[in-house]
Amino acid sequence: MRFSESYDYLSGRVDAVLKIFVKEAEEASLCEAMHYSVFSGGKRLRPMLVYATCQALGGTYKAADIPAAAIECLHVYSLIHDDLPAIDNDDLRRGKPTCHRAFSESTAILSGDALHSLAFEIISSPSIYIEPSRQIEMIQTLGIAGGAKGLIAGQIIDMLATGTHLDLCTLERMHRLKTGALIRASVQMGALASGPLSQEHINSLNRYADAIGLAFQIQDDILDLEGDTEVLGKKKGADILQGKVTYPSLIGLDESKRKVLTLHEEAVSALLIFDDKSLLLRQLADFVVKRNA
Ligand code: IPE
Ligand code: IPE
Ligand code: MG
Ligand code: MG
Ligand code: MG
Repeated sequence: MRFSESYDYLSGRVDAVLKIFVKEAEEASLCEAMHYSVFSGGKRLRPMLVYATCQALGGTYKAADIPAAAIECLHVYSLIHDDLPAIDNDDLRRGKPTCHRAFSESTAILSGDALHSLAFEIISSPSIYIEPSRQIEMIQTLGIAGGAKGLIAGQIIDMLATGTHLDLCTLERMHRLKTGALIRASVQMGALASGPLSQEHINSLNRYADAIGLAFQIQDDILDLEGDTEVLGKKKGADILQGKVTYPSLIGLDESKRKVLTLHEEAVSALLIFDDKSLLLRQLADFVVKRNA
């Protein structure tokens, strides 16, 4: 199947699951803000990785629906909070005013909180397609990746480093935490949705995920400099304006681009032990390095 066909089909699929869960909120303005942020045109990369990994290992899309929707909810909450005045203070996200701009700061904080909680409601909801012990592992995977040993650790390193300096080793660690952790969790949850697998396969998938996770954030740093605000859907040049430490600011644009290509090769070579069913994972690795949004 062509990448664009798989992509359209799977984003429709995860959106259908998200629609079921996001429509329920006790208060209309909260529901509106949550809906606004979830259905604002994100790339749905993390759900794609859940589906693609599950497929690569012979699992079904039905088993991947719940982790795919849950990780997207957690991701969207992280974007809402990342954009807040106290963190990155951004006005534009996915081509629209950020949640706190479209609503209010307090509504953005609370709708982020609600989406964080909703991610765990979704991942723990009963499914006949996932074995209960594997579902518990998924809940734990999501909890670890989204918390103080993952995304939030990366975010606080980022915040504390703003306007100062970081060495390359710490910058890499920050990127692997703030962005890589959820990407690794997406792949791990897709694997859990598929059924039992060998240690060799687990190791290869982790290698793949770690390589594209870091490549994705370096590409994000590059696009902040070279991208187009219209296409990106977020304001170009925001990192420099805010004094962020990024790959280009530390090693330059050319070296950053070379690093992205090396990581792409690493990701592709990690897939060599899988058969043709891993095509979408391969296509997603290509997408991460070629993307302009
Ligand atoms: C943006 O993630 C935040 C980073 C981790 C760089 P995406 O680029 O995946 O954002 P959406 O979901 O497509 O808007
Ligand atoms: C990713 O870093 C942050 C998250 C974990 C949400 P950025 O702050 O660079 O992401 P963008 O550029 O605002 O999307
Ligand atoms: Mg940030
Ligand atoms: Mg940001
Ligand atoms: Mg960025």
